[in-house]
Amino acid sequence: MLAALFFAAPMAGAQEPVNPTARSVQEQQLLEALQGGNAISGRVSIPDQRAADLIKPEGRNWSGTHNSTVYWTTTAVVLGMLALLTVFYFVRGRIRLEHGFAGRTIKRFNSFERFAHWLTAVCFILLALTGLNLIFGRYVLIPLFGADTFATATQLGKVVHNYIAWPFMLGIAIMLVVWIKDNIPGRIDLDWIKAGGGMLKGGGHPPAKRFNAGQKIIFWSVVLGGAALSFTGVLLLFPQLAGEPGNWQLAQLAHAIIAAVMTAVILAHIYIGTLGMEGAFDAMGSGQVDVNWAREHHSLWVAERDTAVEGEPRGHVAPAE
Ligand code: HEM
Repeated sequence: MLAALFFAAPMAGAQEPVNPTARSVQEQQLLEALQGGNAISGRVSIPDQRAADLIKPEGRNWSGTHNSTVYWTTTAVVLGMLALLTVFYFVRGRIRLEHGFAGRTIKRFNSFERFAHWLTAVCFILLALTGLNLIFGRYVLIPLFGADTFATATQLGKVVHNYIAWPFMLGIAIMLVVWIKDNIPGRIDLDWIKAGGGMLKGGGHPPAKRFNAGQKIIFWSVVLGGAALSFTGVLLLFPQLAGEPGNWQLAQLAHAIIAAVMTAVILAHIYIGTLGMEGAFDAMGSGQVDVNWAREHHSLWVAERDTAVEGEPRGHVAPAE
């Protein structure tokens, strides 16, 4: 009898196949539950009961709001800055040296300062590109290269973004330590701002120490913006540190908006450091700037220095031309 039962049981089962998922998940039921604005939750046997939530309507609402806010803010801020710089270039043109190159140079940044700058700069550019890919990539890369390439690039970009964040933080910390003493705001900065920084044609050259007010704004934007990006970024990397879902949702929004504003500020900085101003790039390239550039843009810094201008006696300060 036992043998008969043994062979009969599977046969009975074979007559009525069992769908193992039929009673647990019905797609239609899930969709109906969502229509009513309910959460879709199951049961878990681990202590974290939040893990039982499969879909929460507020999560979906958040994602919609987040995506549109971030998309439009980034578009407005970044494209707005690019448009502004283009107009500035065509209206003002390149800021040239009034007295041409003297052919003698003065040391502006040592190799450690340049290392900190380029470490931060390269990291920021990689972070910005991989971050922007999350917002615009699907609209730009999919039509150009196809969905597969976009998916591979985005997966790689995520890894790059997560790891490059650490040397970026290191670069910011070094820049803070080495440059803070030259970036304390003072009265002279107000005069520089009132004179429009000498940016407009015929605006003269308001005196400045090692960093002028515009550069101090860049410095503090980088340091404070970088710190805020680091803080919110670490919460996104380790969400359990943020606690409630509402906290990391806020961190996500803040991270994206601060990143957009900082990208716009850095675009202006890159413009001035390359195309926008004659003689500026050398400061971060070779570390040496032309004496005439230094006198025109940082007259008080040149006057304060006791190191020699190449080709002039040590401590000699030639009168501003
Ligand atoms: C291709 C990209 C970049 C170029 C060509 C560039 C160029 C320069 C130059 C020429 C200077 C020296 C200006 C002077 O002599 O006073 C400078 C300074 C500086 N850079 Fe950059 N930079 C770039 C990217 C970045 C990025 C991505 C960051 C930060 C995220 C950054 C942060 C700074 C800071 C804080 C200073 C000192 C303050 C200032 O001069 O504005 N730079 N950069």
